[in-house]
Amino acid sequence: MRVTINQVKEMKQKGEKIAMLTAYDYTTAKVIDEAGIPLILVGDSLGMVVLGYESTIPVTIEDMLHHTKAVVRGTKQAMVVADMPFMTYHISLPEALRNATRFIQEAGAQAVKLEGGVTVADKVRKLVDCGIPVMGHIGLTPQSVHQFGGFKVQGRTPEAAGRLLEDAKALEEAGAFSIVLETVPTPLSALITQKISIPTIGIGAGIGCDGQVQVINDILGSFTDFVPKHAKQYAKIADIMSSAIAEYFSEVKSGKFPTDQQSFSMDESLLAKLTK
Ligand code: KIV
Repeated sequence: MRVTINQVKEMKQKGEKIAMLTAYDYTTAKVIDEAGIPLILVGDSLGMVVLGYESTIPVTIEDMLHHTKAVVRGTKQAMVVADMPFMTYHISLPEALRNATRFIQEAGAQAVKLEGGVTVADKVRKLVDCGIPVMGHIGLTPQSVHQFGGFKVQGRTPEAAGRLLEDAKALEEAGAFSIVLETVPTPLSALITQKISIPTIGIGAGIGCDGQVQVINDILGSFTDFVPKHAKQYAKIADIMSSAIAEYFSEVKSGKFPTDQQSFSMDESLLAKLTK
């Protein structure tokens, strides 16, 4: 049985911290799931750390469905949350509902995530009413990077802080089961966390959130274009990959790889018939 939205909400009530990681493929999702992480996000960060785009904006619904299916196949216990990409939930309620349905019905996710607060609350309400669990996402919402003029800390003025609190309350009222707070000052996210009953999951939002989410490539050190300030590298996988690839390269060139151990034998007398 996979983690449910009720269990996630109970974790806040019990004061149990919630850990969430992104995954985009079967193999990584399986390792994360086996580690017992309760929530896996198929983030549209896919666009930057897997597909090599400069932002999340070019990511399509087909990209997201493809990777969500792989993550679902790799997991047994975690709740899989799929990010709805840019402009797949803004245009109309029917379109938001149709697209969210694809993540649940075709890809097998248990919930969707969408960016925005007050402005998307009607969409959140509709999806929840139709039985689709929704995770909100406010603060630095990367799909609005051009509107923000860059990846900047949000909520630093009294007006902006007030708007973020309003956004969080609107999502709670609309029925979201949790909210990602991205790149928000620590005291503000702690305040928002106290003021709402659903869990907050922070990324660059400090210790006062109910949980934390990180991009798997950032914490493993496999994405090397830049290291975001909010990320801690628990490993340097890119270095391990580089040295393994260099060793393979040199062994192929020198003839040291493959050995008999990586090769397959046959009765060589059969070959004699071929050479007659
Ligand atoms: O796309 C993503 O990975 C996200 C997280 C950064 C929360 O939205």
